[in-house]
Amino acid sequence: MCGIVGYIGWKEAAPLVIEGLKRLEYRGYDSFGVATENGDINIIKKSGKISESGADLSALVGTIGIGHTRWATHGVPNDCNAHPHTDCTGAIAVVHNGIIENYAVLKRKLIEKGHRFKSETDTEVIAHLVEEYFSGDLLAAVTAAVRHLEGSYAILVIAKDDQRIVAARKSSPLVLGIGDGEVLCASDVTPLLEHTQRAVYLEDGDVAALTASRIDVYHDGVRVERSITHIDWSVDDAKKGGFEHYMLKEIYEQPEVFYNTIKALEKDTRLPMLRIPAEITVVACGTSYHAALVFRYLAQEYSSKRVSVEFASEFKYYTPPLRDMVIAVTQSGETADTLTAIEKAKARNCSTLAVTNVLGSTVSRSADWTVFMCAGPEISVAATKSFTGQLAVFMGMVNVMADGKFTEVLAHAHRSIERVLPQEMGAAVSLLLSATEMFYVGRGVFYPVALEGALKMKEISYIHAEGYAAGELKHGPFALLSPETPVVAICTPGRTYGVMLSNVKEMKARGAPVIGIGVEGDTEVESIVDVFIPIPEDHQMVQALTVSVILQLLAYQTANALERDIDKPRNLAKSVTVE
Ligand code: F6R
Repeated sequence: MCGIVGYIGWKEAAPLVIEGLKRLEYRGYDSFGVATENGDINIIKKSGKISESGADLSALVGTIGIGHTRWATHGVPNDCNAHPHTDCTGAIAVVHNGIIENYAVLKRKLIEKGHRFKSETDTEVIAHLVEEYFSGDLLAAVTAAVRHLEGSYAILVIAKDDQRIVAARKSSPLVLGIGDGEVLCASDVTPLLEHTQRAVYLEDGDVAALTASRIDVYHDGVRVERSITHIDWSVDDAKKGGFEHYMLKEIYEQPEVFYNTIKALEKDTRLPMLRIPAEITVVACGTSYHAALVFRYLAQEYSSKRVSVEFASEFKYYTPPLRDMVIAVTQSGETADTLTAIEKAKARNCSTLAVTNVLGSTVSRSADWTVFMCAGPEISVAATKSFTGQLAVFMGMVNVMADGKFTEVLAHAHRSIERVLPQEMGAAVSLLLSATEMFYVGRGVFYPVALEGALKMKEISYIHAEGYAAGELKHGPFALLSPETPVVAICTPGRTYGVMLSNVKEMKARGAPVIGIGVEGDTEVESIVDVFIPIPEDHQMVQALTVSVILQLLAYQTANALERDIDKPRNLAKSVTVE
């Protein structure tokens, strides 16, 4: 949670920092703030979103600047708790992403020494600790200060009359961008893309001193070299490209994401290793967890592998018996619970595989090996194209486990995804506009697809939507069915078709309006539901993809009709870097 950006170079820093923060707003948008140095420390910070702020930022002069966009953890989102935070004198300014777990103890000790605190945040202790150690050398003071911090942090620190930014990280992401006579730093690469494609990923425990022309990285007080990585995402990848929302743009990118990910997997010579482990446990949260459930259904149906799926958030406390391999699936590669789960798997001597979207992310550095989904930057808080990227990776794995039986199926799947993108949803959306609660039902592989559809609907439209295995509805939730509770039912051909049709009739008998998803030309489904949404007839794996895209579009169009803040739904952040 929270995004940080820094700039040091020859241009005015504030406009660049602000542009960078706008790109990171998906990480949190409760409040924002920027500090610059020009012989003094100038700060402007406010509650609310930077993209909607009319704040006059003209006081922020200087070619050194740091900024922050916040997702509140300690202290309500107000002007005072917004970052940057300063020491007692106002000569040192800090922005921070992460959580300082021992801040209460540190704060008490600092107050005893005479420090006066202004905010309720954990971050402010960092500014005061740096002040405590400062005797003219900012790098030395930050190095000494971070030794006291427990928890997670990516910090940027500037000080009056010091021509440097000092950066440090532990368990929160921080990447440096190397430009011509300028250095940028940010929580991820999206703010850097407009300026450079040369990036340096700091390691846990690194402290770096940045000037306009060089970066010096230290680890345990010793100077170390960190290699430069070429970022192959373009600026356009991170922009809206004419779409009204990032979410819609990202939905439309899915044919390409699927195709590119499958192509990349075909070249990955490590993948046949997957045939070896007999038991695989997958750990993930949210949408990534749903992708893992799809994998479980497919792997168990088409290969002899035992796959179990666990919430990463539960895994830390209730770890099941583990054998062979643990796969961590995480779009951001920074989800705290998923990172803890993979550490736990390593401690149990399992081999570990990360499936992620972000090069250089923490998960990719902690797992034994990593497979990247080729989704490009996902800006909208609601995951869409990364889900499809994850499904591509998992379907590619199932194909390897099934000795290549699905190569042809996967090679053309992107065309079916393309076909459902223009699907008209007006009638279905009208049916949902007055609903406050609804259900999504499916069976087999379409059960996790239903879970994901419901998650999309609730997070962006705020309609309470629950996903169920269709047969489970009778065991309690049927009590809720009425003409006010629409049901989305996935009725695709195959083993579960007949029983799904019976389930739909049972729901209709209780008065629930039903939106049915079935294959084109299926007049039987069409005749029993209120609104019919067709998908192309295809292999079950491809239908899991096309139905998922339909459900994303349904959530998007409903939320748009309800005038919701689609790309930044209330109370959410894109990377959940706290437990
Ligand atoms: C929902 C959504 C979240 C994430 C979850 C895990 O649209 O985006 O449920 O899937 O927070 O995030 P990652 O995949 O980054 O670990």
